[in-house]
Amino acid sequence: MDLSDIRREYTKGGLKRSDLPADPLTLFDVWLQQAVAAKLPDPTAMTVATVDEQGRPFQRIVLLKDIDERGLVFYTNLGSRKAQHLANNSFISLHFPWHPLERQVHVVGVAEPLSKLEVVKYFSSRPKESQVAAWASKQSSRISARSVLEGKFLELKQKFVNGEVPLPSFWGGYRVKIDSIEFWQGGAHRLHDRFIYERDSENSGWQIDRLAP
Ligand SMILES: Cc1cc2nc3c(=O)[nH]c(=O)nc-3n(C[C@H](O)[C@H](O)[C@H](O)COP(=O)(O)O)c2cc1C
Repeated sequence: MDLSDIRREYTKGGLKRSDLPADPLTLFDVWLQQAVAAKLPDPTAMTVATVDEQGRPFQRIVLLKDIDERGLVFYTNLGSRKAQHLANNSFISLHFPWHPLERQVHVVGVAEPLSKLEVVKYFSSRPKESQVAAWASKQSSRISARSVLEGKFLELKQKFVNGEVPLPSFWGGYRVKIDSIEFWQGGAHRLHDRFIYERDSENSGWQIDRLAP
């Protein structure tokens, strides 16, 4: 297989400066809704990049669970590798790869832990099996075999058979406060459209610039 022959033209349409709203979340909402409407698999999936203590980057996919003017929310295990990275360096980058729509969105910001109240609210909305699985998995730790995980899951399922599953103390989430967000729309002949929104110095609005493709 010759990988160098794999390419396609991007023809779905452009993005114009005059179409951009003052608030980037307005555009983000529209693009997310279009990704859902287009039935993309996991439209809320985003690649999350963090760095370790040596500054080495690492990425993984997580699901976006909420958006408001304060930022973008995701949930995870607070002992996981990503949580350890964020405890040491709260800078974070998110990436939405909506390539069937010839689009991508990049976010750079700061991750802040969610309040326990917010986490409890979300945790209690999850299916019971997912709640038990959160208890069973010490995320990112080394385990000897799948059977260890399954044994733990069954044991905890039994333990919590009656009543509600409580929130584990080691489970939570983050809100990513956006410092910059870039919208990328593919264009013909690789002349793509890119616009970056960056918070202005007074933190009161957004500066918008076009970037070369
Ligand atoms: C489609 C998809 C969705 C995922 N959603 C989450 C999520 O919402 N939260 C989470 O902690 N991990 C999620 N994962 C698993 C992560 O990619 C990752 O394996 C896990 O969080 C451990 O990452 P870490 O060791 O870097 O902390 C998801 C994986 C995929 C493929």
